[in-house]
Amino acid sequence: MDEKKVMLSGIQPSGELHLGNYLGPLRHWPEMIEEFDCYFFLADLHTITVRQEPAQLRRRVLTLLANYIACGLDPEKCTLFIQSHVPAHAQLGWVLDCYTMFGELSRMTQFKDKTAKHKDNINAGLFTYPALMAADILLYQPDFVPVGEDQKQHVEICRDIAERFNGLYGDVFKIPAPHIPKVGARIMSLNDPASKMSKSNLDGCVILMDKPEEVMRKFKRAVTDSDTERCVRFAPQEKPGVSNLIQIYASVTGKSFEEIETEFEGKGYGAFKPAVGEAVVETLRPIREETERLLADKAYLEHVYKAGAEKAEYVANKTLRKVYKKVGFVAR
Ligand code: TRP
Repeated sequence: MDEKKVMLSGIQPSGELHLGNYLGPLRHWPEMIEEFDCYFFLADLHTITVRQEPAQLRRRVLTLLANYIACGLDPEKCTLFIQSHVPAHAQLGWVLDCYTMFGELSRMTQFKDKTAKHKDNINAGLFTYPALMAADILLYQPDFVPVGEDQKQHVEICRDIAERFNGLYGDVFKIPAPHIPKVGARIMSLNDPASKMSKSNLDGCVILMDKPEEVMRKFKRAVTDSDTERCVRFAPQEKPGVSNLIQIYASVTGKSFEEIETEFEGKGYGAFKPAVGEAVVETLRPIREETERLLADKAYLEHVYKAGAEKAEYVANKTLRKVYKKVGFVAR
């Protein structure tokens, strides 16, 4: 039997999941866990590079964990854990700090962006974040790391650090291949279709946990245009708002763009927008209900993250021991 390839991904618990996350990469994860040996973790260590409200951070980590399980990440079929529960991340993070150059960290675009945004808190963690991320990855010797465009530079620096370390000590780390995941649909903001759907603009963003009334309100207020003839028509350049709604409707119903245009022929936005809203409500309903059920079952969630941490720790510690030995630490 072929060994399954190993895949790993970290999720920043810095906000709630929204429809763009769901119809984009997240929807394909349940297929991935069948095909690969997957590790998914909530990157709480990374999150404190920006100030967090403690109670909120704790709640968000658990909500996200429940959300992911509700979206189909079966904890029996993959390793789901919380980063801070596996000390090896911080331990290897420190070692890799010493093999990561000031110059290469200074060139990271995310560091430049974040320091521009959080001028009052330019901390060392924000700067060394890529070395911690490299540790997150290399501990599990994954074959690949699926990340979005914004994280590509982080995977590249991880490869550079791993190659540098291997160059000095032999083959310690597997070099993870960049992987362009199946992304699904690219969903834009409902009230600003030139930007991606994002939590920073809540009126244009449907959160997975939004109540049906809230979802409907957001869709009814979605930006379209003033066409009155053949208004429901897929034309991203000319009609970005409407095309985004068609994209969403197609993603949740499985209908083609042509089928949708025919369905709404001769009808106006007054019929179209609520129809998209209702289809989204029905798609999100089971996820929201299951998340709420899981959040009420603290014992189950605790069982999931403890079992996940144990599985993860076993693999991570093997790599960490190897690294400690290579750099010359005395074994305990
Ligand atoms: N930096 C990633 C983000 O902001 C989260 C992350 C942390 C991650 N460690 C990782 C992603 C390891 C992939 C692999 O989204």
